[in-house]
Amino acid sequence: VQQTSKLKEEILRLKKEKDVVILAHNYQVPEVQDVADFTGDSLGLSRQAAKVPQKTILFCGVNFMAETAAIISPQKKVILPDLEAGCSLSDSITVDELRDWKKQHPGAIAVGYVNTTAEIKAELDYCCTSSNAVNVVKAIPEDNEILFLPDMFLGSYVAKMTGRKNMHIWAGECHVHAGITPEDVTKKLDSMKDAEFVIHPECSCTTPMMYDVADGSFDDQKVSILSTEGMLNHVKESKAKNFVVATETGILYRMRQQNPGKTFIPASEKAECQYMKMITLEKVYDALVDEKNVVTVPKEIADKARLAINRMLTIS
Ligand code: 13P
Ligand code: SF4
Repeated sequence: VQQTSKLKEEILRLKKEKDVVILAHNYQVPEVQDVADFTGDSLGLSRQAAKVPQKTILFCGVNFMAETAAIISPQKKVILPDLEAGCSLSDSITVDELRDWKKQHPGAIAVGYVNTTAEIKAELDYCCTSSNAVNVVKAIPEDNEILFLPDMFLGSYVAKMTGRKNMHIWAGECHVHAGITPEDVTKKLDSMKDAEFVIHPECSCTTPMMYDVADGSFDDQKVSILSTEGMLNHVKESKAKNFVVATETGILYRMRQQNPGKTFIPASEKAECQYMKMITLEKVYDALVDEKNVVTVPKEIADKARLAINRMLTIS
């Protein structure tokens, strides 16, 4: 404990001295969230990356998030404490696969989740995150075919919510969210009968439930499908006292901190992203000292990818 608080103090001192801003995703370990200037979802962190005055961003998240920050702010230095922090979802489509898919559907609009590599983003018309995917698709004229990638659960959720029939959906998934089973969910909801249920749209268990969500009911237990920041806002405003949460368990730290009178249980304790958890306080400290592990995106890729990201940022 003493070691951790000493490290935290050092990080806080160093980031001030070096004028570095620390951004952390909602899935980061508690002690990393504690030293961050901003904690949020992918969309919120992209906005912060563009807005902050500091010239150096220490990004506590995974590779595609740091790349997005580097694309939006090419004049800033973006550091990722562990360059191996990847994402199974962003690995689920290659740029060659995307080019082939586009060739099969000439004229279709390519909409890609922020959980993609910079190379993939450079091939997109629009980028989206879990909090604005529905609005991004709604902004595309009805008669345009859409290629939605790479998450099939987010894709089918968006298709259901927009009523869109001409959307082709890539069959990718996040192993953490896809791994939360309907059995896990049923068990937890049964153990807390009055709980509200909040689900991230990357969850495979979203599929049977979204029909009930669209109808406004699910077995008497209120269900909301939301991005991580959307969940945090929702549970704060809700009158309910108990919540079952279907997403990566890192989010529970902020939920519990911000709502001391409420109870939050994970839909599955196993829902941990090993990539997010690769960022430790020690690595944050080392990254601040050395300013190594800089994430860069080649200019020609960044310039193209920025168009898709900026289109998203102006819609939502
Ligand atoms: P959010 O955009 O909801 O924060 O999700 C990012 C992510 O990686 C989900 O697994
Ligand atoms: Fe990627 Fe899933 Fe981890 Fe999010 S939780 S970073 S989608 S592997």
